[in-house]
Amino acid sequence: MSSRFAALKGVEDILPPDSYLRQFIEDKARSVFGSYGFGEIKTPIIEHTDLFLRSIGETSDIVSKEMYTFTDKGGRSITLRPEGTASVVRAYVEHSLAMRPSPQKFYYMGPMFRYERPQKGRQRQFYQIGVEAFGVAEARMDAEVILMLMLHLDRIGLEDLSLELNSIGCGECRPAFKEALRDFFAPKLPELCPDCQRRFETNPLRILDCKVERCIEIRKDAPLVTDYLCGNCRSHFDSLLKLLGVMGVKYTLNPHMVRGLDYYTRTTFEVTTENLGAQKAVAAGGRYDGLVEEFGGPATPAIGFAMGVERLAALLKDKAAPPITDFFVASLGEEAATQALKLASGLRAEGIRGELGYGGSLKSQLRKAGKLGARFAIIIGEDELKSGLLKWKDLKKGESGEVPLAGARKLFA
Ligand code: HAM
Repeated sequence: MSSRFAALKGVEDILPPDSYLRQFIEDKARSVFGSYGFGEIKTPIIEHTDLFLRSIGETSDIVSKEMYTFTDKGGRSITLRPEGTASVVRAYVEHSLAMRPSPQKFYYMGPMFRYERPQKGRQRQFYQIGVEAFGVAEARMDAEVILMLMLHLDRIGLEDLSLELNSIGCGECRPAFKEALRDFFAPKLPELCPDCQRRFETNPLRILDCKVERCIEIRKDAPLVTDYLCGNCRSHFDSLLKLLGVMGVKYTLNPHMVRGLDYYTRTTFEVTTENLGAQKAVAAGGRYDGLVEEFGGPATPAIGFAMGVERLAALLKDKAAPPITDFFVASLGEEAATQALKLASGLRAEGIRGELGYGGSLKSQLRKAGKLGARFAIIIGEDELKSGLLKWKDLKKGESGEVPLAGARKLFA
């Protein structure tokens, strides 16, 4: 008995032509990020579990509910990365990148894993394209990173997006805000979900991120973080807003946005859409000025973001254009088939894209050329072999002619 396998729930195969759309999104990211001086970093997909506990935070949904964690054969606790920032910061510290000229700027693209309830725009394996910039505390770097994100989204042709901004303060202003949150939630504690009752003790900020309807209702009038910013955080945020104004970037302030990861300080942002149903964020990020130090490196301000590639792709669905096939060589008989192989190989070596016909009559091969949308069909049959002249047909213009075997390259001049 044979058994058929299917991919796991919440993970997917990405097939052509969808993979062309992914490539398009990635190519534009490489080009835009390159113009901002970001270089590619590739980090492992597996890391020590502690790395995520110490950065994303034990009270976050990601760490407490969504991580793919297992014990390897050496007895170590390993986790499939749920995001990219923690790994990049680990690499930054591990390779002493603080010794290199500042700022150090990286981008990455690859799969992330979260055990979430799959739905439209939410998978268990999903791809992120992210960036991280280390070493600059100035708000101008926040502006640069946001401008870079918006340029990429523009270059791939996305419209109708909104940029939501907030500042969630730093270690200095956080205690007063946590205190205010505890004062606010204390009388409502029995009404909060069990998770939030725990969060009340461990990290009341996380209550602001809870997805339970009841908790969302209760927190409607909760204190706003922006009312508790210290002087430095306030002026950092004001500088950023001023710069974005100068650069003509439209944004909305969202003082309720706290983000689901613990490492953030000061600026946080999300780019959202109304066109994807429940999953609104196509990209999100912020500052994490304390994380490098937390991982044992020198105090280093940093900022970054990550985009959800499936969500970008879903918004761009109709724009998945496979590359154009320049030629299709149809042939009949063994000798002609060999000549077709030679001809195609020569053209491909010059960067011209094309395919060979396999099996069937010349007519059926030419039908295939039409289906592929090939520009030129080139025919090698017995007559062509004898005369050394190949028949060609421009399938777009409807023109046709003959060309010597050695001169086929000229068709593509
Ligand atoms: P995040 O908000 O957890 O941030 O994820 C960033 C983006 O990844 C989201 O806005 C969304 O588009 C996409 N995403 C997240 N989870 C899923 C999922 N289950 N299925 C599909 N797409 C998803 C981070 O991961 C931070 N590391 C971003 C960052 C970089 N902050 C600073 N540097």
